[in-house]
Amino acid sequence: MQIGCLVLRDFRNYQTLSYRPTGRLNVLTGRNAQGKTNLLEGLGVLLTGRSFRTSRLADLPSWGAEATMLGGDLIHTEGTRTVRRTIQRLEDGTWQSAGDLCPWARAIVFGWQDLAILNGPPAARRGFIDGFAARLFPGHLPALLRYRQILARRNRLLQAAGAEGRLAPWDEQLAATGMELIDRRRRAVAALSTELARVYPALAGERHKVAVAYRTSLGEATEPAALLAALERRRAEEARRRLTLVGPHRDDLAIELNGTDTRTFGSRGEQRLLALALRMAEVLPVTEAAGTAPVLLLDDALSELDSVVGGNVLREIHSAEQVFLTSPEPLAVNGAARWIVESGEVSAA
Ligand SMILES: Nc1ncnc2c1ncn2[C@@H]1O[C@H](COP(=O)(O)OP(=O)(O)OP(=O)(O)O)[C@@H](O)[C@H]1O
Ligand SMILES: [Mg+2]
Repeated sequence: MQIGCLVLRDFRNYQTLSYRPTGRLNVLTGRNAQGKTNLLEGLGVLLTGRSFRTSRLADLPSWGAEATMLGGDLIHTEGTRTVRRTIQRLEDGTWQSAGDLCPWARAIVFGWQDLAILNGPPAARRGFIDGFAARLFPGHLPALLRYRQILARRNRLLQAAGAEGRLAPWDEQLAATGMELIDRRRRAVAALSTELARVYPALAGERHKVAVAYRTSLGEATEPAALLAALERRRAEEARRRLTLVGPHRDDLAIELNGTDTRTFGSRGEQRLLALALRMAEVLPVTEAAGTAPVLLLDDALSELDSVVGGNVLREIHSAEQVFLTSPEPLAVNGAARWIVESGEVSAA
């Protein structure tokens, strides 16, 4: 799929923007704080209805504005769909987002925040695999939200004195929804792992052994009964600590490069490349699941990479469909459309 055009009104530092990118590689350059990341964010909101930078709707409208509007055309081999989204402040001061969601639109985003997948806490890796699973399986995000509600209710009961007798129905629900999440995460990891084994060596330009594995205290178990039994085993400890101690909210991903856990080894370039490779490894599985290629939003993806590796990254990017690549430095890339971003305006270079 491709974005045919993007229209912004009062979005971040864009007062009004009407932008027609090409359907292939778009390189966006500009000095710091001109609006490159904001533009990628706007493209992402148009595609998915959500920002990859913030969950606070109030951050998105230009400072002082009461509303922001995003619109555009999404192009698929079977036709074009016009989508529109408005984020506005209601009378009670809360913010509301309303608009069209296109069922086949997908964005894969790479940015500085992705380093946390490798060196951040387990929650960063769970967030990564849940985002990927949500692009593969439409039911994943609703199930995740349901799980969080069940977990919160169960934790509240554990915190209330003498409420143990009321846990049983929540245990059942936690086990059923929890196993559903674990199953999709495992399938996502399997698809990712296969692609990563191809993508990382292609980007690094050398043979490397990369492995991603899903880590859960439930081992290989696939039935809700196993999660239920684990809750039963931890009952006394849970009562003491007043917390739910087993389930997908405690799981993690193990990511290894040549047999070393990536959390413990140091080169920043290596970590950035691996984080980028994880995103690039999403492309093929997401294309198969959505029936069309995702749009890639790559924020400053070449920084800290040497020129050989940077060249490999560009080659890999060229085989994708529509790509937006930002850089604070001018980049000479054959066959790319070049754009300048300056003070919330985009012009052809
Ligand atoms: N809601 C908002 N309203 C107006 N301006 C905003 C809003 N949010 C952020 N900005 C401003 O937009 C400007 C551009 O931000 P952006 O993150 O897009 O820069 P950038 O071009 O990606 O820079 P860098 O090269 O440093 O990454 C910043 O100066 C920021 O303060
Ligand atoms: Mg930026």
